[in-house]
Amino acid sequence: FLDIRKLQPSTGLCTFDPGFTSTGSCDSSITYIDGLKGVLLYRGYDVEQLAECGDFNDSAHLLLHGELPTAEQKAAFDRDLTLHSLVHEQLIMFYRGFKHDAHPMAIMVGVAGALSAFYANAADVGNPQQRLHSCIRLIAKMPTLAALAYRTATGLPIIYPRNDLGYAARFLHMMFAFPTQPYNVDPVLSRALEKTLILHMDHEQNASTSTVRTAGSSHANPFACIASGIAALWGPAHGGANEAVLRMLEEIGSPERIPAAVARAKDKKDPFRLMGFGHRVYKSFDPRARVMRRVAHEVLAHLNITSDPLLEIAMELERVATHDPYFVQRGLYPNVDFYSGIVLRALGVPVSMFTVLFAVARTVGWVAQWNEMAAQQQIAPKISRPRQMYTGHMQREFAPPHADA
Ligand code: ACO
Repeated sequence: FLDIRKLQPSTGLCTFDPGFTSTGSCDSSITYIDGLKGVLLYRGYDVEQLAECGDFNDSAHLLLHGELPTAEQKAAFDRDLTLHSLVHEQLIMFYRGFKHDAHPMAIMVGVAGALSAFYANAADVGNPQQRLHSCIRLIAKMPTLAALAYRTATGLPIIYPRNDLGYAARFLHMMFAFPTQPYNVDPVLSRALEKTLILHMDHEQNASTSTVRTAGSSHANPFACIASGIAALWGPAHGGANEAVLRMLEEIGSPERIPAAVARAKDKKDPFRLMGFGHRVYKSFDPRARVMRRVAHEVLAHLNITSDPLLEIAMELERVATHDPYFVQRGLYPNVDFYSGIVLRALGVPVSMFTVLFAVARTVGWVAQWNEMAAQQQIAPKISRPRQMYTGHMQREFAPPHADA
């Protein structure tokens, strides 16, 4: 039973809600989710429509500014996201300090945080213009930081961002081009990546976004706040799931071994879970997973991959699990990560970079949420400060340790 005095001894009523399953931490007009119906809206627009018909920059503008851009706003926004894609040459030296086999997410936490040393003015979070600068810089620079993590870790020469390419194509070029041979970005693949990025942009108060808001509530430098979001995203229960899904599908290895994997996932004594299944909010199909499944088929068809063993295992696993009473009763359906790994692998992105790409996309949501929070903080400052259920000793007398020795 809960001893309420240990929960909040002096300052009145409070709730005990581990994992914040039933706690609204803020008011926000950015993203709406109906987890029972499987609906996800960015500023009122259906995410499936935005991914199928919109482009990255328009969706980013929508999340950050609240509306899709006019032609004039679009031109300015496109220009900003292009011109700010370069990073300071001195930042590139940071990459040389990491161990050769460092996980790219570890590098991303470091270099995103290090940006705060290059943009000290960004700490002026009460200034809306300064805040907007930081948001644009972060969205624009993340693909460059990500590609640098890959190129430096693999010993490849660095490719600078090309101004004539769109957001997704620019990233693919920085990842895969070689200085000595021509490299043309495949428009079908870059469009597939663009859809993937749009689907991952925001998802209201998930673990990483809440982390960014919590860090930002102390008025910390926004680049450091985004680094804290990258750290929270890294875990396999959150953004690291797309990497974990692919490893799980490889481990299952063939459709015949699916029943054994499903049995393990249902066994409460076994910590194994079906990665890419289940979601804290969605208790029906994740709408993003529907688009990702279509994108996976489009990409494989375009690349003439007539049979991909991992896609076959994924589809059979989805069929088996979505007909199994264990998963149905608990509302466990494939989430966005279930198919995104198959798409990214087909694009040639190494598995260790999957979560990095998630971070690139989610940066849009992080900065939009951070900016919204910072504006609200100007009117009513409130640092994030949850309480706890204390389970330790109550006050006791101090005696010098080892007094009898
Ligand atoms: N496989 C098997 N059983 C599962 C799974 C799963 N993937 N997910 C949840 N369950 C079971 C739990 O064991 C629990 O069963 P019980 O009621 O009999 O005890 C029940 O479903 C509820 O699970 P919780 O952990 O309480 O659900 P919660 O909402 O806290 O967790 C989470 C959500 C973390 C996403 C979980 O479903 C999970 O671990 N999934 C796998 C990892 C994953 O795909 N993460 C990506 C999330 S999406 C994203 O970050 C973009």
